[in-house]
Parts: sequence; C-alpha cells; structure tokens
Amino acid sequence: MLLFLVISLFEPWLYLNVIVSGKVDKSLQQETFDIIAHKGAAGSAPENTLSAIGLALDIGVDMIEIDVRNTLDEQIVVIHDSTVDRTTDGTGLVHDYTLEELQKLDAGSWFGDAKYAGEKIPTLKEVLDFVDGRCKVLIEIKHMDHPHYHDFAEKLIDVIREEENGYDWIILQSEEFEYLEAAHEYDNHVQTKKLMISEDSAPLIAFYIETKMHLGRAKEDDRMKALNPEFHTLSTRRIFRMHARGFEVYTYAPNTREEMVKLLHMGVDGIITDYPEILVQIRKDIQAL
Ligand code: G3P
Ligand code: CA
Repeated sequence: MLLFLVISLFEPWLYLNVIVSGKVDKSLQQETFDIIAHKGAAGSAPENTLSAIGLALDIGVDMIEIDVRNTLDEQIVVIHDSTVDRTTDGTGLVHDYTLEELQKLDAGSWFGDAKYAGEKIPTLKEVLDFVDGRCKVLIEIKHMDHPHYHDFAEKLIDVIREEENGYDWIILQSEEFEYLEAAHEYDNHVQTKKLMISEDSAPLIAFYIETKMHLGRAKEDDRMKALNPEFHTLSTRRIFRMHARGFEVYTYAPNTREEMVKLLHMGVDGIITDYPEILVQIRKDIQAL
C-alpha cells in the first residue's frame, strides 16, 4: 500500500522525467492542440500589456491568456498581481488606485528593455478591442475575497457582451468555482474553464482534491469544458482520466521545448506558455514530419 501511495504521488514526476519522450516524432501527428500565450507573450515583452498581446498575435497563437482585476472606480484592468509593485513603478494594491491613477504608472520599464518604457496597464476593454476576435482570449479571474469584487464575474460579462461575437472567442477561467458559477447564473452563453487549485502549495495532492470535487460534475454540467492544471501535476494516466470524464486539459506554464513536447505526448489539449513561439515551431516540426 505504501509503495502504491508513493508511486501514485510521484507519478507526474516519473512521467515528466523518466517515461515520456521529449522528441517530436510521428506519434504526435494525430495530436491537435491549442497554443496559448501566457499573459501575452510574457517571456518576450512585459506581461499583460498591449505589447505582449500584440507580439502573441504576430507569433500566431490560438489564444491569449490574461489576468484581470478591479480598480477603485470599478474599471476592469489587465494585471496579474494584487499589487502594482512587481510590474510597475508604483506601489500598493490595484484596487486602491483609480483607473486614471493606474494608467499613469509605467508598466514596461521593469522588464529591462528600453523599448517598453512607458507601457500602460491596459483595461480589459482595450485588450479585447485590440484583439477583436483575431484569436481567442482566456481571462483568468484571480482570488478576490475583497468586497470590492462583489459581482465581478457579472461585470466581466458586461464587457464581453460589448465585443462582436464575444461568446465565441472570449473564455473565463478561475480556480474559484464560485466565479464560474456566478458567471453562468448571470449568462449561460459564456464559456468557462476550471483551473486546478493550489498546485504551488500542494502539487501532488491538488489533483486528487480537485478531481474528487469536480470531475464528477463534467457529465451533469458540461459548462466546465476544461480542467487546467499546472504542468508538474500531470501524467498520461491523469490526462486520460480527465478526458474520460469529459474534460479538455489546458496546462500551464511549461517554458522549454522539451517540457512542451513531453506534455503533447501525454495528450494535453492546450499549452499556456510564456514562449508561444517555441510551440509554434513545434507545430511546424510536427506538420513537416
Ligand atoms: O492560465 C493559468 C495560469 O496563468 C495560472 O497561473 O499565476 O500565471 O496566473 P498564473
Ligand atoms: Ca493567469
């Protein structure tokens, strides 16, 4: 029993390090997969800015993942952290700034490339207008226990509704089931994907907690189209089980070619990465076989 427990806990490690090949070969020819730019092409431009998003569009991704938060005056902006400290020249919580104050900050210089100095934190509307259906957009709603985020999912949907055919190309994802439920209660046309919980703190336990809580729901509730796990928690067997229960699997955020190829061999449906250009090259290499 103990041996079985140890093996099952470390199964993803075994698949990633021992069992699965990192080489592009003919077995990948049948694989179809989405290329998703994490926070725009965040490895090559400051994350969640129009520059990073423009770069991802130029690279030719299928989807762009972004993170959203609320300003003091209830405008939805595209930024990852709850504070502005890491990715701007300001300090403090995003939701303590008005939009006007927030857009005075420099969200580009921290990246260390002079051409991005003066980049602004964009609003969700600016990002969606810019993409305008040229690829899909995956919007992540973070943990938002502050009362300021009351009705946030509903407010997001109001922005999505302003885009032409927005339901087709804009998708919501969150670790928090309640936001996805609230989104569906408000508007059942919206597409949603469930992020797996707490991989950072409990990488191998998360799969079991999450699948017990949510895998069973796939059949009754086909609104959760995908279960999106951190890539270190995956194995071929786990992906098989998620597929068998009706979920697609979009994993984040492998950033090397070898990791990406291994995950494709395991059977993921999409990869969210800071370096989508690597994945575009992998797709070309597979097509050239
Ligand atoms: O798409 C999922 C992934 O973005 C979650 O992690 O911290 O990069 O937002 P994080
Ligand atoms: Ca994210």
